[in-house]
Amino acid sequence: MQNDEASRTALLIAASLVLLHRDPKHSSLVSKTSADSYVHVLETYSSQTRLFLKIVQQGWFRPIAKLIERITIPGILLHYALRKKCIAGLVRSALTNGTTQVVVVGAGFDPLSLELHLNFPASEFWEIDHPATQRQKLRALPKIGTERLHFVAIDLSATGLDREELIKRSFDPTHRTFWIAEGLLMYLRPDKISSLMTTLSSLSAPGSRVAFTFMEKRSDDRIQFDSQTKLVDWWLHKRGESFVWGTTRDELVEFVRPWRVIRFFDQYDLRRMESGLADEAIATGEVICLAEI
Ligand SMILES: C[S@@+](CC[C@H](N)C(=O)[O-])C[C@H]1O[C@@H](n2cnc3c(N)ncnc32)[C@H](O)[C@@H]1O
Repeated sequence: MQNDEASRTALLIAASLVLLHRDPKHSSLVSKTSADSYVHVLETYSSQTRLFLKIVQQGWFRPIAKLIERITIPGILLHYALRKKCIAGLVRSALTNGTTQVVVVGAGFDPLSLELHLNFPASEFWEIDHPATQRQKLRALPKIGTERLHFVAIDLSATGLDREELIKRSFDPTHRTFWIAEGLLMYLRPDKISSLMTTLSSLSAPGSRVAFTFMEKRSDDRIQFDSQTKLVDWWLHKRGESFVWGTTRDELVEFVRPWRVIRFFDQYDLRRMESGLADEAIATGEVICLAEI
């Protein structure tokens, strides 16, 4: 990531979900509250994102967006929306079954913790993100800081997660926690991921869970979505957001110990979550892993 600018991929996800919410066919996949929150971020971030937002909100742009999607990563918009729906389902289920703390690592502009903190008044929430991204989120949504929603800015490639930073902000390691790292680990080196997983486990009471996504290693060893074109490689490289970590499911089971993998969710599981998607492309290559301590 570039140190002074918010994550471009996080901004792109925000714009993608606004676009999907505006599409009558898939509107229900992105709640109005989420779409409004993404709109607000794009309106506030810069004149460039404000203009981009205006464009993505136009009906005439939809076929152009479809074309852009086809020549970059076919099915990426549905992948983003379904990935979010799957993880939101997992965390909501944990919260109704005794989990009282949720930490979203690499939260980007996702409004999940905001929504959950309204729906679960007895629970506490934390967002950890790169300072450059988090600063922009707080600038766009200045009213989100409440007593039960905490923000911790850390560059995980540089310093790693400091246990004390969380504990200082009311995090209690004796309470059951649900950790989320969605669309994050592919940007970190394996040693940083390993140390992050160890720190999370040291902060987790028995029964705590983590849901994270990872790029599945391909036979050609490239770390990317299966249908990703060279244009995307070039763009990610230019933005300093190239994927640097990918793995296989078997390797992962060992890599994340002491976390115990419960299950994986891939494109087949995501497709099954929603009816009417039989003829739609869904990007493949990024898998969700749910693990427990
Ligand atoms: C692709 S975005 C995903 C955002 C969000 N989780 C989502 O799925 O909508 C990647 C996120 O990882 C964060 N990130 C990337 N590198 C990071 C680092 N070294 N330290 C902390 N956060 C980082 C970015 O700031 C951004 O919020």
